[in-house]
Amino acid sequence: MKSVLETVMNPSGVWLNGAVSQMFQLMAVVCLACVVLKAIQLYWRRQKLLKIFKSFPGPPTHWLYGHLQMLQQEDELDNTASWAEQYPHCHPIWVGGFLVFLWINHPEYAKAVFIGSDLTSSFALCTSIGQGLLILHGPKWFQRRRLLTPGFHYDILKSYVTMMADSVRVMLDKWEQLITQDNSMELFEHVSLMTLDSIMKSAFSYQSNCQTDSDNLYIQTVMDLSLMVHLRVQTPLHHKNLIYWLSSQGRRFRKACRLAHHHTDKVIRGRKEFLKDERQLEKIQRRPGLSDEDLRAEVNTFMFGGHDTTASGISWLSYCLALHPEHQQRCREEITEILGDRDTMTYTTMCIKETLRLYPPVPSIARELSAPVTFVDGRTLPKGLTTCLSYSLQVFDPLRFSPENSAGRHSYAFLPFAAGPRNCIGQQFAMNEMKVALALTLLRFELSPDPAKPPIKIPQATLRSKNGIHLHLRKLQ
Ligand code: HEM
Repeated sequence: MKSVLETVMNPSGVWLNGAVSQMFQLMAVVCLACVVLKAIQLYWRRQKLLKIFKSFPGPPTHWLYGHLQMLQQEDELDNTASWAEQYPHCHPIWVGGFLVFLWINHPEYAKAVFIGSDLTSSFALCTSIGQGLLILHGPKWFQRRRLLTPGFHYDILKSYVTMMADSVRVMLDKWEQLITQDNSMELFEHVSLMTLDSIMKSAFSYQSNCQTDSDNLYIQTVMDLSLMVHLRVQTPLHHKNLIYWLSSQGRRFRKACRLAHHHTDKVIRGRKEFLKDERQLEKIQRRPGLSDEDLRAEVNTFMFGGHDTTASGISWLSYCLALHPEHQQRCREEITEILGDRDTMTYTTMCIKETLRLYPPVPSIARELSAPVTFVDGRTLPKGLTTCLSYSLQVFDPLRFSPENSAGRHSYAFLPFAAGPRNCIGQQFAMNEMKVALALTLLRFELSPDPAKPPIKIPQATLRSKNGIHLHLRKLQ
C-alpha cells in the first residue's frame, strides 16, 4: 500500500495531490475566518464594555491582561484594598481585556446591588458542587431556600452546640499531644477537619471520625478544588467549558470532583442505611422533598460551604487573638465568666466580627446583575454585568463593633455573610461554631504568633493562608 507521501508524490495521483492541497487551503481559510470573526467579536465586546464603564474610573489597566498581573501577585488583597482607598465608591477590575467586574467599596453601592435587583449568584464556575442552594436561581432557588430555612431555626441550632463542642474537644486533645515548647503548630488543617466533623455530625447526623482517622483525602480535595476554581477565574481562556475540560487543569478538576462526590455519596449512603434500620426512611421519602440528584447537590453545598468557611474564620480568629494578647485575655475573662453567671459573649463577638471584617472567609462576593441597576449618584450598570464586594485593610480593633461605635454605621458597611434574600443561610450556625471553638481553645491554651512564619493571605473560594497558620500554643494550668 502506498504511503500518503508516496501518493502525493506519485504523478499518477496528481489529482489527489491537488484535492488534498485544496482541502488544506479551504481549512486554512475557514480557520482564518473564524479567528478574524472572533477577533472582531472581542473587539466589539471590549468597545461595548469600555463605553459602559466610561463613567466608572479605575486603576490603570493593560488592554490585554487588564489587572490580572496585579491580581495574581501574592499581595492581591492588599492591592484591591488600596484601590478601595483611591476609589471609595467603586471601580472596574479587568480580568484580561474582555471581562470586567465592578468592584464595590461603598455601602450604598452594595445596597443597590444586594437589594435593588433580582440577583443571581455568579458561581457558574463552581460546577463542582452541583445545582445546590448556592448556585440555583429563580423560582427553584426560592423553593429550595424555603425548604431548607427551617433547618436553621434557633432551637435546632442550639441542639448542635454540644456536638460542636465535642468536635472541638477532639481537636484540642490532639493539640495537647502535638505541642512542643519550641515549635509552633499549623492550625488550619486541624481546624478544617474539626469543622468538617462538626457539620457532618450536626447537619447529616454522620459520625465521620475524620479528625482521628489518618485518611484526610476529602479535606485535601476540597483545598484542591478551591485553588482550581480560583485559578480558573483568573484564566479567561478557561472560562469556556470546552477549553477548560480539555486542559490538564480541567481534567484535574474533574478528578477532584469525582473524589468529592464519592465522599458525599458515602455520607448519603450511610445516612440512608441508618434510616432504614430505624424504619424512618419510608416516612421521610413520602414527604415531598429532594430527588437523589438534588440531595447530593445540597449535601455537597452544605458540606463544602459549611466547613471550609468556618475553618477559615476560626483559624484567622486564632491568629488575630495570638497577635493581640490583650484582646485574647479579655475574651478569656469573658468566657470564664460565662461559665459562672454571665450569658452573653459581647466582647468575644466583637473580636469575631473584627476578624471577619479583616479576614473575610468569603473574600469576594460576586453577583451577576439580572436586571439593570442605578446607583445613588445616578450611574447605572446594565443587566448581565458582574459586581464584586471589596475587602478592607485596617488595624485590628474589636471596639469598632461596640454598641456606641456601631450605632451610626451603615447597615451595608459590614457584610461578611452578604445581605438581602441570598445572604448566608448558615450565618448563625457559623457564629455559634466560632464562639464554641474559641471559648474552648482559650480556656485550654494561650496563643501566640510565630514571627518566623507569618501567614500569607490567598483569596481562593475561601480566604486561606499560602503557608498555613502557625501559632505557638501554651497549655494553661
Ligand atoms: C464564617 C462562616 C461563613 C461565612 C463568612 C459565609 C459567607 C457566605 C456568603 C458571603 C454567602 C453569599 C455568597 C453569594 O451569594 O455570593 C453565603 C451563602 C451561603 N452560605 Fe455561608 N458563610 C459561612 C458559613 C456557612 C455555613 C456554616 C453554612 C452551612 C451550614 C453556609 C451555607 C451557605 C449557603 C447554603 C449559602 C447560599 C445561600 C443562598 O444563596 O440562598 N455558610 N455564605
